[in-house]
Amino acid sequence: MKIYEKYINTLLAHSKKKSESRFAANQLLEMHFEATKRESPVIVELGVDKGQSTRVFLNAITDKSNARLISIDIKDCKEAVKSSNWEFVQQDSVDIKSLLLKKPIIKDGIDILYIDSLHTQSHVFKEVYGFFEYIKPKGVIYFDDIDSGPYMNGQRKDSVSTEIVNRKIFNLLEAIFRANYSSIDFSINRGSTGLAKFVKNSELGDKLNPPIFIKKRQFKFFWKLLELLKLKKTYHHDNSSNESFLINVDNDKNDE
Ligand SMILES: C[S@@+](CC[C@H](N)C(=O)[O-])C[C@H]1O[C@@H](n2cnc3c(N)ncnc32)[C@H](O)[C@@H]1O
Repeated sequence: MKIYEKYINTLLAHSKKKSESRFAANQLLEMHFEATKRESPVIVELGVDKGQSTRVFLNAITDKSNARLISIDIKDCKEAVKSSNWEFVQQDSVDIKSLLLKKPIIKDGIDILYIDSLHTQSHVFKEVYGFFEYIKPKGVIYFDDIDSGPYMNGQRKDSVSTEIVNRKIFNLLEAIFRANYSSIDFSINRGSTGLAKFVKNSELGDKLNPPIFIKKRQFKFFWKLLELLKLKKTYHHDNSSNESFLINVDNDKNDE
């Protein structure tokens, strides 16, 4: 039996429930699956606390030679878990220079980075921009606390501050994705705190372009009128022509 298999089995049981606990379980199981399928991953975790996610990663890498989990927290969490695959560093997660001196293996590339420390937009910005160049090609970055839905007015975990901060972090991820389509795939799990996933499609050492924030439009009729006045050309989906489809199913050349 693996080190924290009992905990993983509990998560699996929750993932089959109708209640919302399945969303929380699925977030952790998604990361467990990602770590399990890699041969000898280097995982960096930002934010340990009582070690919920730490247990998940450690379980996935038990028995994998050369796999390791490096966890960072500003407070002392060294007693959170026990495993020979685990290395704990007490420091600020954005001080990457000092982390690289302590853990130079990070320079060779990270398979999975999990961002779950200080939940502010500016802190997450520093973490993702600081660590991105050390992510391996096809490496993954997970971000916790990106769903504002469960924290909205009258919802299960009604909390105005979490609602707003989670939305700000999500807006940041959208803005990063918008500026980096060619080097990131972006997907999300919703319903609990929310888990976002970036998969890196570029090389070790490649950096991110600065985020592109675009103000979301409201008041459709106002914008329509403005477009009319400016004679602005906009996109219209046209089923009768192939122009509207990025991939033409009738064209075999797409398969080449
Ligand atoms: C939400 S908890 C982490 C939970 C953990 N990942 C889990 O699944 O159980 C956030 C942690 O981030 C830590 N933290 C807050 N600010 C930090 C910073 N600037 N650098 C590193 N860790 C920080 C806190 O001490 C706290 O333990």
